[in-house]
Amino acid sequence: MTPNTDTPPLCLLTDIPDGNAIEVEALVNHEVESLLVYRHGDEAHAYFNVCPHAGRRLDYAPGRFLVRNGTIICAAHGATFTADSGDCTAGPCRGDRLRAVPVAVHDGVVRLA
Ligand code: FES
Repeated sequence: MTPNTDTPPLCLLTDIPDGNAIEVEALVNHEVESLLVYRHGDEAHAYFNVCPHAGRRLDYAPGRFLVRNGTIICAAHGATFTADSGDCTAGPCRGDRLRAVPVAVHDGVVRLA
C-alpha cells in the first residue's frame, strides 16, 4: 500500500516489538482514535482499538495488548483475532473482524495509507 507522506507518522516500525502490538492515537476521519498497530516482520497492520463483540477496548491496560503467536486476544471476554487479517477465529464474535485502518511502512516509518 502506498504511504501518504502528507500524514504524520504513526510510529517507527522499530517502536513495535516484532510479533507484538502497540497503541497509537491518530486522527482518522477527523476523529482522534485509539489504534492497535501490530508488527509482523517488515509489515504493520492497524485496527481500531475496539472489539466487535461489545465495543470494548482490546487492551488489558492502556496500550498493553495480549498478542501471542500471531493472535490478538481481547482482554474483555477473550475473543481471538488473527493479527495479520483481524478475523475473529474464536470467542463471542467468531466470524466477525476487527476494523482495519490501512497503513503502510516506508523507510521504517508507519503511516496511514
Ligand atoms: S468485548 Fe471483546 S470479547 Fe467481548
